[in-house]
Amino acid sequence: MSILLRALRADITTLQVDAIVNAANSSLLGGGGVDGAIHRAAGPDLVHECRLLGGCKTGDAKLTKGYRLPARFIIHTVGPVWRGGTSGEPELLASCYRRAMAIAQAHAVQSLAFPSISTGIYGYPIELAAKTAVATVRAAASEAPSVREVVFCCFSPADLAVYEAALGDASAPGG
Ligand code: AR6
Repeated sequence: MSILLRALRADITTLQVDAIVNAANSSLLGGGGVDGAIHRAAGPDLVHECRLLGGCKTGDAKLTKGYRLPARFIIHTVGPVWRGGTSGEPELLASCYRRAMAIAQAHAVQSLAFPSISTGIYGYPIELAAKTAVATVRAAASEAPSVREVVFCCFSPADLAVYEAALGDASAPGG
């Protein structure tokens, strides 16, 4: 059984999947970007649950209910701020994807959508981030057999092109 990975352009808050991932900050109390969109769409009960979680470290992830979202769960993760790439950013970003996959597995999630973690306000170069995202999810799939489908949800056509290239690379000769 192999996992299906695909990229699409959408507002992640609209997706009919079991769980969506949020690119949050360590307070877990909301912010701008996709985090703000998720909190607005899920409604005020989300922040009430988030207050009980005691924050989240960079590279870790925590689960809440999805409230008004079509998705049943939200997996909140905290990506690294890009500081040039030599401050552990690749390993921390990979950890976000691994932890989200493990939490999805623990809740029997079959379909999961990720935003492009860290590549907005946190400034991570998207070509690098997309490669790490795809490689880490592929590597984590064998330990998350409940997860049948992962969607890389891109907000712009340019981001979608980057993810499509990253998804294609792995099947290319030498990729
Ligand atoms: N659906 C899908 N993707 C989106 C959406 C959406 N509705 N809105 C934005 N994006 P960012 P980060 C894309 O900045 O870099 C917050 O304030 C966006 O175009 O949301 O991890 C948090 O509280 C970009 O490609 O997250 C943190 O403080 C991607 O989502 C900080 O931002 C991630 O951009 C986290 O920064």
